[in-house]
Amino acid sequence: MTQQVPAIEVKNLTVSYGPVPALLDVSLSIEPGQLVGIIGPNGSGKSTFIKSLLGFVKPDFGDVLLFGEDAEKAKGRVAYVPQRGSVDWDFPITVGEVALMGRYGKQPWWRELSSEDHDIAEHALEQVRMADYRHRQIGQLSGGQQQRVFMARAIAQGGDILLLDEPFAGVDAATEKAILDVLESTRETGRTLVVVHHDLATASEYFDALVLLKQRLFAHGTPEQVMHPELLSEVYEGTLRIFASLQNEAAAGGDG
Ligand SMILES: Nc1ncnc2c1ncn2[C@@H]1O[C@H](COP(=O)(O)OP(=O)(O)O)[C@@H](O)[C@H]1O
Ligand SMILES: [Mg+2]
Repeated sequence: MTQQVPAIEVKNLTVSYGPVPALLDVSLSIEPGQLVGIIGPNGSGKSTFIKSLLGFVKPDFGDVLLFGEDAEKAKGRVAYVPQRGSVDWDFPITVGEVALMGRYGKQPWWRELSSEDHDIAEHALEQVRMADYRHRQIGQLSGGQQQRVFMARAIAQGGDILLLDEPFAGVDAATEKAILDVLESTRETGRTLVVVHHDLATASEYFDALVLLKQRLFAHGTPEQVMHPELLSEVYEGTLRIFASLQNEAAAGGDG
């Protein structure tokens, strides 16, 4: 077996905004072509982890390597779909323009986008099944449709690594399935996907590997390795009991 360079390698990563670190001494590596879920309770550092890979936050300590290179150097190989709440939806821009935004970073500012850029953006919209909406204002779409348009922008960027922060948050079941299909077909193109995910009920089913974070790295491995009740109850503490009882309620109410 040939040894390949990890898509992502994080060594002793420590990040803080204030006196308490949001991430403490996190080390892990992710092989290319994997669909990886990041789980952990609210405030456990999931978004901070993603932002560290993008170079948006500066580590106090530690290194981030992308394909063996300094994250700064490999920046052009990473595309990002932010958490939906962090985007201004009143901004007057169409679906087609959002997808095209994925192409702007690829060339010098003085050059117009080529017809190839337009084709790539259009193809990305087709992949997420949003091409028919290309002239719509982004603010007029449902949450799930907006999410898919932002995935198209990231796909159009052509990065080898796609980072998505809670893409399933607040979408209906049909959209969740559509988004999962896009993630899986994107993985088939050989890209590496790292996805922040808040739903423990679907984590095993959706991902090749899981990363369990709460300030520190608690586990990283196959879903079977990570989804251990004792480990989860340690990390989620009281919140998991609430989660479990919600699940029971939902199951009890499901047939009524
Ligand atoms: N910009 C910021 N300024 C100050 N504190 C922050 C900032 N962003 C995140 N934090 C804090 O860092 C911790 C981790 O946050 P975050 O990475 O957003 O967690 P998660 O995405 O898992 O909910 C939390 O305690 C949060 O309050
Ligand atoms: Mg977050």
